[in-house]
Amino acid sequence: MKDIAGKTAFVTGAASGIGLGIATALSQAGAKVMLCDIEEEALRKARAQLEATNADVDAVRADVSLKAELKAAADATLARYGKVHILVNNAGVGGGGPYGTWTDAAWDWTMGVNLDAVIWGVEIFGPLIESHGEGGHIVSTASIAGLISGGSMPYNVSKYGVVALSEGLRIELAPRGIGVSVLCPSFVRTRILTSQRNLPERLAGKLVPTPPSGPLAERFKAVREGVERGADPRYVGELVREGIENDWPYIFTDTEFEHHIEARFAAIKQGFDRIRGRTPAR
Ligand SMILES: NC(=O)c1ccc[n+]([C@@H]2O[C@H](COP(=O)([O-])OP(=O)(O)OC[C@H]3O[C@@H](n4cnc5c(N)ncnc54)[C@H](O)[C@@H]3O)[C@@H](O)[C@H]2O)c1
Repeated sequence: MKDIAGKTAFVTGAASGIGLGIATALSQAGAKVMLCDIEEEALRKARAQLEATNADVDAVRADVSLKAELKAAADATLARYGKVHILVNNAGVGGGGPYGTWTDAAWDWTMGVNLDAVIWGVEIFGPLIESHGEGGHIVSTASIAGLISGGSMPYNVSKYGVVALSEGLRIELAPRGIGVSVLCPSFVRTRILTSQRNLPERLAGKLVPTPPSGPLAERFKAVREGVERGADPRYVGELVREGIENDWPYIFTDTEFEHHIEARFAAIKQGFDRIRGRTPAR
């Protein structure tokens, strides 16, 4: 989608971090942006911050893990701007740990915000983007953790899901004039590690049974340090704008984890090599 100016974008998780970075970049490129987030006060501030730059933005509160609220946010976007061209499924939470620490609540919450909401976003906004015939773009925020696994299993599973959905949709939606990109950030300096500030009341106290200790605590510390030294979300926003303009299938933020992904591909290839030349019994 070469010309973003004058188009309308709907961005989830837009009150903070990467979502706010994307909303900033798109509005600076001349798009009208509907900011969507669960956090009322942060949303109000984000909107005021962008309006102070003369950006054409509005805001709608929604818990995207509730389909009815996402649908209502889509209705509000149409009521405000008439059309929508760009969907950014970005809201996400870092919930759940490795084997042995799982809770149903952690799986429900993480899968609900990180994956169900992305599926529903496509279901709800896809037809709206198609309807005006002007083309559009869908970007969904997965993670490097959507391409290499280990650590927080619910997070990994949800993010692999976002990658799978985006790769498949890219093929299906191209003939319908909609480009699809998946954003796979490495560490970005955001509030992701305090995601539990948005834990719904119904899951309060049910997320993690014990505080992490031993090797797990070390891992958490490394992640914390990674996020603290991570990329500026405004830089990530600019990359996403560039990705939309040039229809990039994958949007990465740096090469820090590239060798891990290469190692995964090598292990997959080894799996094929092991059975190469064998004839499957039928
Ligand atoms: N920060 C990183 O290092 C990093 C790396 C890879 C991927 N990501 C992904 O980036 C995306 C954005 O996260 P971030 O790092 O900017 O964190 P963040 O916490 O700063 O921003 C996330 C935003 O999503 C909103 N949100 C959370 N639950 C919601 C819900 N149910 N409904 C609507 N909005 C909700 C939050 O209020 C917040 O404004 C997430 O999908 C995250 O998994 C982040």
